[in-house]
Amino acid sequence: MEFIDLKTQYARLKDKIDKNIENVISNAHFISGPEVKELEEKLASYVGRKYCVSCANGTDALTLAMRVLNVKPGDAVFVPTFTFYSTSEVVSLEGATPIFVDVDERTFNIDAVKLEKAIKMVIEEGKLNPKAVIPVDLFGQVANFPEILKIAEKYNLKVVEDGAQGFGGEINGKKACSFGDISTTSFFPAKPLGCYGDGGAVFTDDEEIYNELLSLRVHGKGSFKYENVRVGYNSRLDTIQAAILLPKLEAFEEYELENRNKVAKKYTEELKDIVKTPVVPEGYVSSWAQYTLILENAEERSYVQEKLKEVGIPTMVYYPIPLHKQKVYQGYDFNLEDLKISENLCDCVLSIPMHPYLEDEQVKTVCDAVKKAIIEYRK
Ligand SMILES: Cc1ncc(COP(=O)(O)O)c(C=O)c1O
Repeated sequence: MEFIDLKTQYARLKDKIDKNIENVISNAHFISGPEVKELEEKLASYVGRKYCVSCANGTDALTLAMRVLNVKPGDAVFVPTFTFYSTSEVVSLEGATPIFVDVDERTFNIDAVKLEKAIKMVIEEGKLNPKAVIPVDLFGQVANFPEILKIAEKYNLKVVEDGAQGFGGEINGKKACSFGDISTTSFFPAKPLGCYGDGGAVFTDDEEIYNELLSLRVHGKGSFKYENVRVGYNSRLDTIQAAILLPKLEAFEEYELENRNKVAKKYTEELKDIVKTPVVPEGYVSSWAQYTLILENAEERSYVQEKLKEVGIPTMVYYPIPLHKQKVYQGYDFNLEDLKISENLCDCVLSIPMHPYLEDEQVKTVCDAVKKAIIEYRK
């Protein structure tokens, strides 16, 4: 069994993908070809944003956002501590200070109450300038934007939605990658919408931000490529990746997102009485980048993981170490007493196979194996 089955997806979409790749090669328009623009327009329309700027990967997408917002040394940027390293790495890269905030155990996303507490602490200390917050749509579930946006407004913070895992999710019909001043996503192959290499995108409704993103993406260009008005990057999405993403986006809209939700529903029905399963709040839709269980403790998790491995079911631990405990942030002593939920999650989470091509039989096999392992362990 595959953890994420990209081979079956390719078999299903092969004709369209192969044809699109061949077109790019025969047209030899490898950089900024027409497929890139077409994809950007379709992505912006799907998520409900005015503008989309594709780029080389999801980390660059966040970096471009940090640059546009002029995040700099002396600034505090609030990030969840339970996420992939990129979320805080891009803050550190600008010389600013990431302020780690705990997450809500039910949704795995930044805890709005603790976010406000952390902002107040930074203001009281008076050493850093609270600049922005980067809520993450972890595991496909959109962060608690209704609360976060209110807090951001109250303290005059910019909001960058890290939607690397969130593409396809929504809150009351409003899609992931449409929240805050700037949103970003990743097309890393394992993401809900992934390409065949690295890729990413930035979304905004603000024309000024859009124009600066276009410049930053291509070496800080001015009115043309060989006029340079700022220090930028070489961070374009390859035309071939755009050509691959076009049919994948179609499949995502037509049936993949729905299938992911069917799989998740079955997992939850089968497993919720024996183990903590992910909670999707009222009005939210997840795109299920991961389906993540919370076991009782680290030993139980190791036992279940080992037993699943024995019967050929792959699992992953996202994430084993919270960001504030990463070596790169050693000596970091801010807000630590309030990060216990994330620390506990790192000991207890286990992600099980999740993709739109899982058969009912396979879902049942996974559920039976999880239940059997937990019952055995608790005996
Ligand atoms: C939450 C989060 N943010 C950012 C990224 C960075 O994306 P990429 O790997 O495309 O640079 C990832 C994915 O790896 C992610 O999961």
